Amino acid sequence: MTLDSLASPRARHPRWIWRNGELVPWEQATVHVNAVGHASVAAVFEGVKAYLADDGRRLLVFRLDDHMRRLADSARICRLELRHTPGELGRAVLGLLRANEYHDDTYLRPWVFPSGIIREQMAPAGSVCEAVIDSWPFHARPPAAEGCSAAVSSWLRIGDASMPPRVKAFSNYHNGRLAAIEARTNGHDWPILLNERHKVSEGPGSCVALVRDGTVITPSLTSGVLDSLTRATALDLLADLGVPVEVREVDRTELYLADELFFMGTAWEILPITTIDGLSVGEGEPGDLTRRLAGAYRATVRGVDTRHSEWLTELPV
Ligand SMILES: Cc1ncc(COP(=O)(O)O)c(C=O)c1O
Repeated sequence: MTLDSLASPRARHPRWIWRNGELVPWEQATVHVNAVGHASVAAVFEGVKAYLADDGRRLLVFRLDDHMRRLADSARICRLELRHTPGELGRAVLGLLRANEYHDDTYLRPWVFPSGIIREQMAPAGSVCEAVIDSWPFHARPPAAEGCSAAVSSWLRIGDASMPPRVKAFSNYHNGRLAAIEARTNGHDWPILLNERHKVSEGPGSCVALVRDGTVITPSLTSGVLDSLTRATALDLLADLGVPVEVREVDRTELYLADELFFMGTAWEILPITTIDGLSVGEGEPGDLTRRLAGAYRATVRGVDTRHSEWLTELPV
């Protein structure tokens, strides 16, 4: 697969960006240079996708309320004062999609950072925040026909006692970035990080699961991972498919014995891993269960399978 296909195409920008309750023309959405730096240390964000429904007439925002709730949770842990409730932010997402007249798959990035000029104290607790929502088109991932290669990183995942991975903070991505660079340098697509206990945690932008003897096994939420909505979705879809699941600590060597391995995340969706540390996973092709899960995921987010329509916020286009 081309990894560039996962990157966001940003060549053209939308007309509107949402900022602190107003739609602002893109060019005017600027901050003073002093507002970057210490203020951004504490910035938290979300990544949300709106899919064009199969009928081409609706955008379906996937798990919007859950994403906005997680943003509020991240802000709470980082002691940031949100000016807007999760409900207001969710409505702002819909208003922004409408204002920019999107008619196709769209990625949304709400984020929150302490406002003003913060030169000292690294954005004290209770800092009043700016909230911004940006958006851009994304190209749907190709069906799970292709997989990626992964390698266990020599960088350990940050931990709950230092930089909690449960928080979706920009700063946390320094850790994932170093691991991703190492993986690429060594000829792999993506890293899988071990946590402080040297158990499997997650990838730089996704959770991970393995399949062994028909059971899907994924690290627990106390393994140093983000409380991923794709992971939660996958667990529900696997229950629908009648597939047994184990949520527990995972050893590195279990990755080497897996019949199938895959990443899960809003950006990557269900991404098969076909080699791990140079060993082929199963037959070295995306496995049957991974394909079935990826298919179920796609049918759900596009509104083809309506069994979980509570996850979809509809916007006519
Ligand atoms: C570090 C990390 N883990 C896991 C995930 C997957 O989370 P979600 O499925 O909610 O997108 C992401 C993506 O946002 C991430 O950045």
